[in-house]
Amino acid sequence: MTLERGARRERLRALLGAEAVLSEPQECAPFLLDHLGRCRGSALAVVQPRSVAQVAQVLEFCDAERIGVVPHGGNTSYCGGAIPDESGHEIVLSLRRLNSIRNVDPENYSLVAEAGCVLAQVQAAAETAGRFFPLSIGSQGSCQIGGNLSTNAGGVNVLRYGMTRDLVLGLEVVLPGGRVLDGLSTLRKDNTGYDIKSLFLGAEGTLGVITAASFRLFPEVRTRATALAAIADVRSAVTLLGELRAASGDRVSSFELIPRIGIELTARHIPGVSDPLPGDYAWYVLCELSSSRVAEPLDALLEEALAAALSRGLVLDAALVRSERERAALWKLRETIPEAQRHEGASLKHDISLPVAALPDFVARAAAWVAEQVPEGRLVAYGHVGDGNLHFNISQLPSADREHFLARAAQVRRAIHDMVREFGGSFSAEHGVGRTKVAELERYASPVELDLMRAVKRAFDPHGIMNPGKVLRAS
Ligand code: MLT
Ligand code: ZN
Repeated sequence: MTLERGARRERLRALLGAEAVLSEPQECAPFLLDHLGRCRGSALAVVQPRSVAQVAQVLEFCDAERIGVVPHGGNTSYCGGAIPDESGHEIVLSLRRLNSIRNVDPENYSLVAEAGCVLAQVQAAAETAGRFFPLSIGSQGSCQIGGNLSTNAGGVNVLRYGMTRDLVLGLEVVLPGGRVLDGLSTLRKDNTGYDIKSLFLGAEGTLGVITAASFRLFPEVRTRATALAAIADVRSAVTLLGELRAASGDRVSSFELIPRIGIELTARHIPGVSDPLPGDYAWYVLCELSSSRVAEPLDALLEEALAAALSRGLVLDAALVRSERERAALWKLRETIPEAQRHEGASLKHDISLPVAALPDFVARAAAWVAEQVPEGRLVAYGHVGDGNLHFNISQLPSADREHFLARAAQVRRAIHDMVREFGGSFSAEHGVGRTKVAELERYASPVELDLMRAVKRAFDPHGIMNPGKVLRAS
């Protein structure tokens, strides 16, 4: 016999304290709409536990009552993964009060952070200890590390340091039913059976609630060289990346592709951004080399490599950054492309990845398809070319009708994702599946993969309370 809605809220209040359980529409509203304004839900309550023990109590209660639980971090996701469905039966579990850095151990090059820590807070804690935490994404001032773990976030340093998954040494997770997996090890080597923690990374809260993680740290970055290089096409980007990696002793930490329209949009809409180079070029790459050595001559190295590329026509023009202010301006240009896109209306987003070597042919083919089939939109393809990850977005033309443009999303997505598949790529590189790409996973994952994923879901969450309908269809 399950409880009525009101009684369920009362039980949650009894467990957590009245102030930790929100149910007034105004208080709940920020947790029920994603930041793109595309996924809206409803909830029985928004709960804000203060401790791991309280998270465990919530999951024990919800499992017994068969209440869906939607973990919620900084609400910066693109796929609606942190938003409940419209039924009003689920609860949102905000991790924002679990926001302590539990430990920083510079000697062990490790750090333990709770899920509700904002990413910038984790970076700062490492820096204070003279170490470097390399995860870096545009939303780092508001996204939370629990969300980064749950979506296996990528960002601008993946080329050198890997995805979030690669930075994790251990996890603490509350399971449906309330048991706690206490796995905050900081060991580098630990071959003791199945790697259980890896299943929670990228699971988007469908298997349990990550409450804390131990991470590997790196030596503090002391020298950087940054440049913007203009190039003719994506093939030149791939060639230049290969050359720079070899010439620099693999010091390339970021290699970001920017299309001409990315420069135009940011210069038009973002205060303080201007076009760094005098000419009009089709494509640009923002490349950054970095080192933990103070006396590493990275500027000279980058300048020499770019000059050689210029003389061969691989690079058409380049601007080397001369100060921290110039560097920040260049990164601002890159990181505000999504915001600048929003100023010009809706966009159809595709977070795709391909083998790096396949990017040139893919972009040539897919760009031609967009030009022909989506005349009401413009391609804004940018991103982490060094990882083979492009944000292959299509922005509506200012003259186009927003609703009509958005109505084409499913058809455009199908064509682009099918092309990605043909080139051996993935429809979800770093933004996850959430609730908006469940059908894509069903289409592109193999039957064996889907069977295994469903079996894992059943094993961890037999009553299906964890983030129902995200990643896998609710059964
Ligand atoms: C970025 O790299 O800027 C973000 O991951 C993505 C986006 O807004 O498409
Ligand atoms: Zn990205």
